Amino acid sequence: MRILVTGATGTLGGALVPALLRSGHRVRALSRTKREDRGNVEWVWGDLVSGNGLAEAVRDVDVIAHLATGGRKGRGAVDVTGTRKLVAAARQAGYPHLLYTSCVGADSVASGHLRHKLEAERLVCESELGWTILRSTHFHQALDRRLSDFESLPVLAVDRSMPWQPVHTGEVAARLNELIAAGPAMDELEYGGPQVLNTEELVRTWLQAKGLHRPCLPVRFPGSLYAAQRAGELLTDAEPKGRITWHDHLFPASVELSDDFASEHTASPTSPANQPEQDPDLHVYGGDEGYERPTRG
Ligand SMILES: NC(=O)c1ccc[n+]([C@@H]2O[C@H](COP(=O)([O-])OP(=O)(O)OC[C@H]3O[C@@H](n4cnc5c(N)ncnc54)[C@H](OP(=O)(O)O)[C@@H]3O)[C@@H](O)[C@H]2O)c1
Repeated sequence: MRILVTGATGTLGGALVPALLRSGHRVRALSRTKREDRGNVEWVWGDLVSGNGLAEAVRDVDVIAHLATGGRKGRGAVDVTGTRKLVAAARQAGYPHLLYTSCVGADSVASGHLRHKLEAERLVCESELGWTILRSTHFHQALDRRLSDFESLPVLAVDRSMPWQPVHTGEVAARLNELIAAGPAMDELEYGGPQVLNTEELVRTWLQAKGLHRPCLPVRFPGSLYAAQRAGELLTDAEPKGRITWHDHLFPASVELSDDFASEHTASPTSPANQPEQDPDLHVYGGDEGYERPTRG
């Protein structure tokens, strides 16, 4: 199949593109940065918010894996406006299967970024295309980067009452690949990591992996999203679930993890992976949106 991947330069896209190629699919990858085709990846330039380039991007594709997001700071421009424009372009192009990636909790936590994810889900469900939605829990790679932003702090504030169920992007990509092969599910599915950890467990394992020693100061994060996370709204019992633990991710010698696409294709200058966020409001662990755009200091 020919598959358009939006968000191909992002955290999950970096795992999905090689997984699709290994399955024998032809990949068209969308980015706001122009780049040369490489190997079996055809790059197309486009911007979901303006709609520029979308007609060319969706032409003759069987499936659209729609991963692109503006994250917490995007204020819905990519997730809502961009999804609306992508749906319109897809309808013009012959109704390919639209697979949309969302977040666990989008349907129950009416807060910030998750509100935008739910609105985008609604656009997908009502698109009259064949569709599938996969809601995931936080990605290992995104949490790892987020914690790295606080590496220089002498003390780390942790809320032990906050549960996390992180999942590896390689496994989310494999699940997406299965869903693509299965065809439109016309359903919202969930996918989470193998274990639930509290913030202190998460942080202590991470400190150990980085060889750092920092005292952890117990705190209680305020706000409605933290309350929802505390109540377990960002967790899922759905099966199948990932098998790679947070520990496995941080101590990769214990399992075989590959991210070949990421090593071959550097993220574009506009990609969130290349945009350190200097946000004084950004909380250490948890953010206020269920997950944060990855940041790199
Ligand atoms: N991160 C998590 O922990 C997590 C957890 C659950 C679900 N999810 C969901 O998984 C999906 C992928 O997340 P991610 O963390 O991999 O994303 P990410 O690393 O933040 O990457 C965002 C991607 O969106 C693209 N993008 C941003 N604005 C765009 C625009 N105006 N037009 C076209 N493309 C645009 C970027 O491409 P260019 O910069 O190359 O244009 C980039 O590839 C999202 O739907 C997200 O909601 C994420």
